[in-house]
Amino acid sequence: MITTSGLTKIYRSGGREVTAIDGVDLHVREGEVYGVIGQSGAGKSSLIRCVNLLERPTSGTVTVDGQDLTALAGRGPRASRELREARSRIGMVFQHFNLLSSRTVQDNVELPLEILGRSGRDRSAKALELLDLVGLADKAKAYPAQLSGGQKQRVGIARALAGDPKVLLSDEATSALDPETTRSILELLRDLNRQLGLTVLLITHEMDVVKTVCDSAALMERGRVVESGTVGELLATPGSQLAAALFPVGGDASGPDGTVLDITFHGESTGRPVISQLARTYNVDVSILGAAVDTVGGAQIGRMRIELPGRYHDNVVPVGFLREQGLQVEFVGQDAPAAPAGTEVKEVAK
Ligand SMILES: Nc1ncnc2c1ncn2[C@@H]1O[C@H](COP(=O)(O)OP(=O)(O)OP(=O)(O)O)[C@@H](O)[C@H]1O
Ligand SMILES: [Mg+2]
Repeated sequence: MITTSGLTKIYRSGGREVTAIDGVDLHVREGEVYGVIGQSGAGKSSLIRCVNLLERPTSGTVTVDGQDLTALAGRGPRASRELREARSRIGMVFQHFNLLSSRTVQDNVELPLEILGRSGRDRSAKALELLDLVGLADKAKAYPAQLSGGQKQRVGIARALAGDPKVLLSDEATSALDPETTRSILELLRDLNRQLGLTVLLITHEMDVVKTVCDSAALMERGRVVESGTVGELLATPGSQLAAALFPVGGDASGPDGTVLDITFHGESTGRPVISQLARTYNVDVSILGAAVDTVGGAQIGRMRIELPGRYHDNVVPVGFLREQGLQVEFVGQDAPAAPAGTEVKEVAK
């Protein structure tokens, strides 16, 4: 639904150049919630502003719903009609809501429809329908100053949906909200994604946001995407920073002579008694050093760090057994083999 290829943005000001995005290839599938995470200054906002052409990329292309936006003329207030129309089908939600304080909630939601030249009756019917959808039917006549932060963001989301977009972009939509309100806004985005089949690209610096709603994620560092994939693919990628951050497991080895393994369970393997089978079948003492089960992007995922007696070469058979059960097994520690046999290394965007 959204594809960027070789996307680069260089800001030039006062004789200085800043490469904010550096050759980003992103692929967001239709109907998914895709999270881009990274530290401050990584280029996340620049990326999202290039996706809807609020910012014109220095090079590379952006395709949304099959249309190459970079081929359309104009920029900023001088965008061509084609570009303005294409942009109206991309909703945008902002960190600080960007509501007009002199207008009522309903009039804020109607704003994009006014710009599209829709009749008064149409606009008001659509705005009321959207306010109902985001749970604010009773606030149509209120002013932004009379709303809580969470309610303001609901208005921001309703306004973003006014043009019946297929794609919703969100730049730190929950960063200004408390944890509970954050959760309710994320739930709303998830519901909209499911009910309307909306594709959501969201930018965040909070791993919890990715964990709560995203089907896929990308990690940005200094303008580049250093890891990307579905949550399942990331968890199945040995050494993935995102997987480790999404799903941390700790625990130190008891001594130098054991083999420490990180095991990831997803899908049907989550419910099976694999560890007790391992202990029984091979008559090994399994020590559990750390474990967690959680829901990531709507799927149950478990991770466990275990220790088996003996070095790596003593444990080839038990490890083979775990992999046969459909588990992801990663070696932890210094003498771990670089790429253990049978490990499926999924493609990681570089
Ligand atoms: N309009 C601009 N002119 C010049 N430099 C800019 C401009 N916008 C962003 N930059 C620079 O581009 C880099 C990436 O900025 P960007 O705002 O995309 O980061 P970010 O990942 O969104 O950060 P944050 O998490 O703090 O919002 C930064 O070094 C920033 O200073
Ligand atoms: Mg930003």
